[in-house]
Amino acid sequence: MNFSVFSSPNPILFGTGTSKLTGEKLRALGCAKILLVYDAGIKAAGLVDRIDRIITEAGVETVHYSGVLADPPDWSVEEAAALGKSAGVDGIVGLGGGSALDTAKGAGLLQANPPPISQYFGREGVVTRPSVPIVVIPTTAGTGSEATVASVVVDSATHEKYALMDPALIPREAVLDPLLTTGLPPFITATTGMDALTHAVEAYIGRSNTRETRGMARKTVALVFENLYVAYQDGANVGARANMQRAAYYGGIAFTRAYVGNVHAIAHTLGGMYSVPHGLANAVILPHVLDDYGESVYGSLAELADVVHLPGNTAERKAKAFIRAIRDLNGSMGIPTTIDGILEEDIPLMTDRAFHEANPTYPVPRIFSREDFSGVFHRLMGKSGLHGYAGKMARVDLSTGDVEHFMPQKDDLLKYLGGKGLAAKILFDEFDEKVDALSDENLIVITTSPLNASGTPSSSRFNISTISPLTGLLVSANCGGDFGLHLKRAGYDALVIRGQSPDSVFIHVGEEGIELRGASGFWGKDTSETQEAMGNGGKLAIGVAGENLVRYACVVSAERVVGRGGVGAVFGYKRLKGIVAEGRMRITVPDQDKFKGFNRKWIAKLQKHALTGEQLPKLGTAALVRKMQDRDLLATRNYSSGRFDGFENISGETLREKHLVKNKGCPTCPIRCGRIVKIEGREVKGPELETLGLLGSNLMNDDLPLIIRLNRLCDELGMDTMSFGGSVGFAMELCEKGFWENGLRFGDCGSLEALARQVAHREGIGDVIAEGARRMSEMYGGGEFAIHAKGLELAAYEPRAAQGMGLGYATANRGGCHLGGGYLVVLEGLGFHVDGRQTRGKAAFAVFFQDLMEAASAGGSCLFTTYAVLPSFLVRNPRNPFVRMIHAVFPSFGGLVALLHSHPGALSVNAPGVIPHPYAYKLVTGSKMDIGRFVRSGERIYNLERLIDLRQGLAADMLPGRLTDELQREDDAQSRVLLAPMLKKYYRIRGWDEHGAPTGKRLKKLGL
Ligand code: SF4
Ligand SMILES: [Fe+2]
Repeated sequence: MNFSVFSSPNPILFGTGTSKLTGEKLRALGCAKILLVYDAGIKAAGLVDRIDRIITEAGVETVHYSGVLADPPDWSVEEAAALGKSAGVDGIVGLGGGSALDTAKGAGLLQANPPPISQYFGREGVVTRPSVPIVVIPTTAGTGSEATVASVVVDSATHEKYALMDPALIPREAVLDPLLTTGLPPFITATTGMDALTHAVEAYIGRSNTRETRGMARKTVALVFENLYVAYQDGANVGARANMQRAAYYGGIAFTRAYVGNVHAIAHTLGGMYSVPHGLANAVILPHVLDDYGESVYGSLAELADVVHLPGNTAERKAKAFIRAIRDLNGSMGIPTTIDGILEEDIPLMTDRAFHEANPTYPVPRIFSREDFSGVFHRLMGKSGLHGYAGKMARVDLSTGDVEHFMPQKDDLLKYLGGKGLAAKILFDEFDEKVDALSDENLIVITTSPLNASGTPSSSRFNISTISPLTGLLVSANCGGDFGLHLKRAGYDALVIRGQSPDSVFIHVGEEGIELRGASGFWGKDTSETQEAMGNGGKLAIGVAGENLVRYACVVSAERVVGRGGVGAVFGYKRLKGIVAEGRMRITVPDQDKFKGFNRKWIAKLQKHALTGEQLPKLGTAALVRKMQDRDLLATRNYSSGRFDGFENISGETLREKHLVKNKGCPTCPIRCGRIVKIEGREVKGPELETLGLLGSNLMNDDLPLIIRLNRLCDELGMDTMSFGGSVGFAMELCEKGFWENGLRFGDCGSLEALARQVAHREGIGDVIAEGARRMSEMYGGGEFAIHAKGLELAAYEPRAAQGMGLGYATANRGGCHLGGGYLVVLEGLGFHVDGRQTRGKAAFAVFFQDLMEAASAGGSCLFTTYAVLPSFLVRNPRNPFVRMIHAVFPSFGGLVALLHSHPGALSVNAPGVIPHPYAYKLVTGSKMDIGRFVRSGERIYNLERLIDLRQGLAADMLPGRLTDELQREDDAQSRVLLAPMLKKYYRIRGWDEHGAPTGKRLKKLGL
């Protein structure tokens, strides 16, 4: 089928009141008796009587056909034609929207040519005799039918839409009187106007346009963006109405010559199948299809973006801004992002129809495959077309209370997996330039992943990404517990939250939708009280630290924490006290039996492994305190040493012996690394290694009960224990060295609980410590011993005894993070025993582990599952001579790892017994995935995060002077982080320039 047409524009009568000339025009055309074609709505609006009077007063007789239907079926056109014939009319007047005009045109054709109308479907040039004159009087502004020789008619047997096309169908006159459109309801105004925009855009991006059609399309786009919303809001605005009529007419001329495209192919199919109004269908489909065209339309859409003055420094950015502007225009007029009622079982047939309509006739910028069409239909249903995703995402504007649903393209889901990857993609696309963390524009992007709620082991974690108030860069923070599961079961893969609420609120997410609820009753409350007050489900809450914009405020979920980078302060700025999600939707996988068998094996592997089956279940992360002490890795006295005399008192063994009640794990996790401990008669959450280090050894504090209490207090106040400990350690050293007299001393920790409250409430010195170590150093000096990277305080591993860890801290995109850094310390003494003071091979391993962990996290796995990638026997017996030999030669494999990094195709295999994560993703989503693709996805995400950081003004990958210049051990020149030479190699392997920016070549390779 082909909806394109060839004609010259016909004469038009344009302007306010011109409909009064209709009778004269008909007489001039030689008409004595005409058939007036319209529907019941136009009659009810009084327009029929008005036009009838004008015509009859000019001495022309009228016969009425009032049976026009939306998406006119063949029999209705034939009925109108028969009426006209029996009455002996010599002219036809179509009055109304697109359907009335199409019926009139079809009936005109049958005045001179035999029925049935179906014999002319899609067959150009078979009409043998000229039609009687057809005059059209549109009462909507959009179809452009007044300018075309096409008439769209539905085959009532098959529900397919067909086009009649013939020069005989061209209206002899078009009467464009804006006064006839002022009574059009707002929603019809909106959708018909978007039809005009769709004509212009499809014509413009197609491969068959001319200078003239491009000019017409540009005029249409400008007129629609300037006038449609005005006409929608103020229907009586004759100026805007007149301009929209012009827009529709120009759009009609543009697509008459330059054709429409895939948007129309899909809209016609939906119209035929479910009677979705044409304009509405186009409006909803247009942005989805433009997304899918990808780079093939960047150039042309950038030109249209210029027409409506949208910003952007590249064609891609402008094109995306244009697509966003279409979405915004739709949203502002209440046009949804999905279409209700589409049935999964109809998609193959609709795909086929759309495919055949578009191919090969429409000159589209990129030919869609059946898969492409099917993907669009799925997204119109609000689904991704992939298993493993709940099916929809929501944008929530706290300023207005608006909620809008969306779904990224399938291709992006596959490229960025989910979790932090998908969040980075959303944040990257949303902005053109730097965004302030504490601003209405900043987004909180909460994402789940395909593995969440699928049943794979240790896969309940979810992600929150935003611009960090602590670093000013991208932060992605990951959390266990059950919130992610509930969010997905409520049917949502992601929430994107913007704006600032006028009053404190929390968001309720359920299967029935999303609503904002008042939170003023628990503003100022602790996180546990807040969670209780919000009702049932998975929950997120901030405490007073978030409300008071402490730069490292966290978000708490049950007793787990979205800890790093100050996500809680962004919630606080937005007056968002928390989120509750509840639902019972189930995530399906393509082959349940195969999947279950695979999960059983993976669980068994985790349970047998030395780290995930023994160390973590037995002692939790606290097991590492002793190991770190042994290897000079335990951050002590603000990282001036890696050993702490009082370590025994804060070790995992002591915690187990004196306080442990039971282990606690996230849902679906066989590792169960969490601890419930007893203190002063109460059962509370036990501290993790990082808390033991940063509130313990780092402050010269060996009072374990105090650390347990502080841990709980920080959770209640909603404050990251790591950055709090790091900032206090720095404040203590500032005081001891005389930079800032604040009364804090290492080892003198009795007032730490009071200090935590002061920080959370921003009182006294707490107001300063709430700013974090970097800002404190800007106020008081001591930058060389302010222990942070990119503004984020480091984890509890002293890196001067673990070069790879030092490199990881320096390069991690979110700042001084052990996990984002690739966690090489697991090779350097906490699993393997590769020499931590040597740099050989570290750059390559850092890159590989960063990418692997990035992908594992984005896919939805807890990072502890990546420990089990290391062969267990190499971890269990470090003193065995054979194992020692392997550890000694291990760095030599760095070259091979670097080589594989640049040729991931060599890893196009799955080895679920070694690296189960890509195989799990494959089984859950039903898409292609192997180790090479998986690690490449991780690399892509890592690079995208780096691009966001650079846009936010990232200057350099650095560590404080204490770590790079001061020796940890006087007698060992290697006992400092030898950052510069490692960084050089690291950048080379990553394909980045000497400033740490990805090169264009690398980005192209990664499809960025
Ligand atoms: S290992 Fe720990 S953090 Fe990871 S999923 Fe299991 S219980 Fe949760
Ligand atoms: Fe259209």
